[in-house]
Amino acid sequence: MSSYGRQTTSLVLYFNFHFFLSLFCYLPVPVVLSALSSNQQATMIDLSNSLNTSAGGAVPWDVNKEPNPCSWKGVECNSPTNSSVIRISLSEHSLSSSDFLPLVCRIESLQVLDVSGNRLTTIPPGFISACGKLGKLKLLNFSLNNLVGPLPDFVGFLGLEALDFARNNLSGSIGSELDGLVKLRSLNLTFNHFAGHVPTRLGKFKVLEELELSVNTFDGPIPAELVGYKNLTLIDLSGNRLTGSIPAWIGELSKLEVLILSANNLSGGIPQSISDITSLWRFAANSNDFNETIPGGITKHLKNLDLSYNKLNGSIPSDLLSERNLQTLDLSNNRLEGPVPEALSPSLVRLRLGSNSLDGKIPSAAIATHGNLTYLEMENNNLTGSIPPELGDCRKLALLNLAQNQLSGALPAKLGDLSSLEVLKLQLNNLSGGIPIQFTRLPKLSILNISRNSLNGSIPPSVSNMQSLINMNLQGNKLSGSIPVGIASMNSLMELQLGENQLSGDIPRMPMNLQIALNLSSNHFQGLIPETLSSLGGLEILDLSNNKFSGEIPDFLTKLGTLTQLSLSNNELSGEIPKFPSWVMVDTSGNKALINRTTINTPPQLEKKKKSYAATIVLAVVAAAVVAFGAITIVAVSISRQNYRVNDEQVQTEEELAVPEVLQGNLLTANGIHRSNIDFTRAMEVVSDQSNFVLKTRFSTYYKAIMPSGASYFVKKLNWSDKIFQLGSHDRVARDLEVFGKLSNSNVMNPLAYVLTSDSAYLFYEFAPKGTLFDALRGISGDDMDWGSRYSIAVGVAQGLSFLHGCTPSPILLLDLSSKSILLKSLKEPLIAEAELLKVIDPSKSTGSLSTIAGSVGYIPPEYAYTMVVTMAGNIYSFGVVLLELLTGKPAVSEGIELAKWVLSNSAQQDKRDHILDYSISRTSTAVRNQMLAVLKIALACVSVSPEARPRMKSVLTRLLNAR
Ligand SMILES: *[C@@H]1O[C@H](CO)[C@@H](O)[C@H](O)[C@H]1NC(C)=O
Ligand SMILES: *[C@@H]1O[C@H](CO)[C@@H](O)[C@H](O)[C@H]1NC(C)=O
Ligand SMILES: *[C@@H]1O[C@H](CO)[C@@H](O)[C@H](O)[C@H]1NC(C)=O
Ligand SMILES: *[C@@H]1O[C@H](CO)[C@@H](O)[C@H](O)[C@H]1NC(C)=O
Repeated sequence: MSSYGRQTTSLVLYFNFHFFLSLFCYLPVPVVLSALSSNQQATMIDLSNSLNTSAGGAVPWDVNKEPNPCSWKGVECNSPTNSSVIRISLSEHSLSSSDFLPLVCRIESLQVLDVSGNRLTTIPPGFISACGKLGKLKLLNFSLNNLVGPLPDFVGFLGLEALDFARNNLSGSIGSELDGLVKLRSLNLTFNHFAGHVPTRLGKFKVLEELELSVNTFDGPIPAELVGYKNLTLIDLSGNRLTGSIPAWIGELSKLEVLILSANNLSGGIPQSISDITSLWRFAANSNDFNETIPGGITKHLKNLDLSYNKLNGSIPSDLLSERNLQTLDLSNNRLEGPVPEALSPSLVRLRLGSNSLDGKIPSAAIATHGNLTYLEMENNNLTGSIPPELGDCRKLALLNLAQNQLSGALPAKLGDLSSLEVLKLQLNNLSGGIPIQFTRLPKLSILNISRNSLNGSIPPSVSNMQSLINMNLQGNKLSGSIPVGIASMNSLMELQLGENQLSGDIPRMPMNLQIALNLSSNHFQGLIPETLSSLGGLEILDLSNNKFSGEIPDFLTKLGTLTQLSLSNNELSGEIPKFPSWVMVDTSGNKALINRTTINTPPQLEKKKKSYAATIVLAVVAAAVVAFGAITIVAVSISRQNYRVNDEQVQTEEELAVPEVLQGNLLTANGIHRSNIDFTRAMEVVSDQSNFVLKTRFSTYYKAIMPSGASYFVKKLNWSDKIFQLGSHDRVARDLEVFGKLSNSNVMNPLAYVLTSDSAYLFYEFAPKGTLFDALRGISGDDMDWGSRYSIAVGVAQGLSFLHGCTPSPILLLDLSSKSILLKSLKEPLIAEAELLKVIDPSKSTGSLSTIAGSVGYIPPEYAYTMVVTMAGNIYSFGVVLLELLTGKPAVSEGIELAKWVLSNSAQQDKRDHILDYSISRTSTAVRNQMLAVLKIALACVSVSPEARPRMKSVLTRLLNAR
């Protein structure tokens, strides 16, 4: 057995930790005497009354507390006299009514009006006519609201310089609405639903400098009229449906600094005239259909160039990589051929050339001088020759990925000099020779994958020095000898893949923290399965298949509480197969002398059930006795089986697991019912009994706790307690949990109470009887999920996530959002679990940054591979994958292919989109099918390759609500 369908690979992320002491805080500014004109004083008081009565939000303006409006939060007056108001900012006050807006226009001195981040849906006509007369008004900011309908027709506004309508739901096409804005310098209409051609009437005097139209549905070509706007410094048209090619006149926009055309349907080539623009430093045209060769010279002035995910062909021009200013270059996922040019820019920080058809050798001479190179990716090409030792001179290199080429020769020992290296991927090449001991001196290496080469020799004993290593994959080589004894002290190691080698000898004690997998399959191991494996209390997958292990299957394997897959096939094991918990997938095939004691026919449904208390069983017998005779026999058979298990397991658990000792237990919820139900003593008994186990996520284990009152709760144990909590930091953890207890959203699992023991934390939650979304989609709970329930779940999760992202002062980010971390209260009510993770994880392990595993395979956005930071856009990608699961009914990864990638590659053509949907759902009606197609569009935006192209959660939510 060489690989696992469900095997999880993982990604190491580093992030700075900062937790917050208070979520909502601001203090008033000290009092100042007012010199405001009586007119404006009266207007401001009217405005504050209007806001506090009808606008639906809460604005902290109170003339009784603070008589001078110039001192109100968000108000600014002219200096030094304070005689008139020049700026009003009502950002983020949950305002939903626009009635106050015309009042604002009474303030003739107003220069800036910012109402961003509210819930406004309309702009009253009175506002346009009145504010249009304010000659001093320079900036209008309506971004992040829920405005609908077409863009208003701007009449007047002769002084307006900046207009921001980003992230609303405006629609329709744009004609002459903005033509009268003669001073307009900055226009932002990103993340709306505007359609039709790209607007060209953007202020008669054509003084526009910044044009941001990304993520709308503009179509047609890049209009020739834009060349008339000679002051343009920024053009962002990404995430639309533009077609045609990039016009050569673009080179005439001589002040252009940033040009972003990503994620459109542009084709043809990249115009050479790009190089005429001396001020242009960033150019992105990734994710289009460009299908010609790359012209030379275009990086002459650029710092950042992204042309990834196109169909560019031919070879890379020899000067492309060498221009002095170039810092990042991404040409990955094209059809480029030929060699990698020899000369590289000394400024280069990131070079991505993966997934092309490049051949020849890795240029060595040039690379040596690259002090700044931090990310180098050339995977999935046809590169040959050996790995140049000069790479060892790139002292800043953090990521080196040369996997899946035809590289041969030995691993250069000099790579051991890369003191900043965190990720090294050289798998799927023809590398030979031994593993240099210098590799074991890489202090920061956390992922090492040199699998599927022809490496030989033994594993150097000094691997034990690799204290940062989290994933080590040496699978599929010709390694021989035994596993070094020192491996036990690799304290960070969570995944160890040693399968398909020629290893033999004694199996030493394994690192205690192994979580993801221990794979020793297809080697020459023999003898008894070693007792020391019993200490791997957190392991999920253990593969010992295809060796010569003999003797009995030890009983301790049945007690590894977190094990989900155990492969023992093709060994020489004998004796009886012990009884494993129902959630462990056990493969014992190919062991001739094994006896399966449980081969007696058992109804599979009953076999799955967890143990219940003796009292319940007696009740069941009584109840069954009242039912028909035939039923009784079946129940009786199954009960005797269960009884047997009950006794069997009780003996084990009482020996093995002591009830944890409570150091501190606190109720967080204010709800009286929960407060009287929750019983800490009972909960601790529950978690010490594996039969109450319900599910395990990447970071936690859930138990079902029936309290003495009869009410059910989830008690969640945070796994890896030794990593997560710094001993002695209980106060801090408690403080953070108190903060979480106060958050309240019906789609987020909020802790109701917590218990801290010496080495773990247990959190109490409402019980979610329908299990995980993942199981529900597979029908494991026995319910069918129709479109109504899938849609409700999509909206509910979006609501929860936009709540978390909207938390002030800092958004709450999810470390692991997947269909396995979404629990269902009912088939329409999802709960996001694990929201507290990023906050309760311990920052103090080494130098203020923390390494851990972020996310599950299939949900990890592509950019995490090199940014190594958890972001809001990353969460949105994971959410997009959840949407795709709801739409397709397929899991996030199947047969090694990520769902998001599969859908992206099959959705380019509109007519193919139908086939992506789960047909059993989409066929129910045309209305359902249309809604599903609308949600698919949203999902596609969420899983955009470029993080910038992904919408924010708030806009995702409004779009989802509109999809109905
Ligand atoms: C004007 O108001 C601001 C804000 O309240 C205050 O800091 C400043 O001192 C005031 N200036 C005068 C001259 O009152
Ligand atoms: C408008 O407000 C948003 C959110 O507060 C802010 O990010 C944006 O920069 C503002 N736009 C302008 C043009 O000032
Ligand atoms: C033993 O046999 C039962 C019934 O055929 C089967 O369900 C179970 O998977 C077998 N156990 C193992 C470990 O192969
Ligand atoms: C993009 O172009 C392809 C052909 O190149 C076409 O099939 C597809 O429909 C276009 N997509 C959009 C959104 O216009």
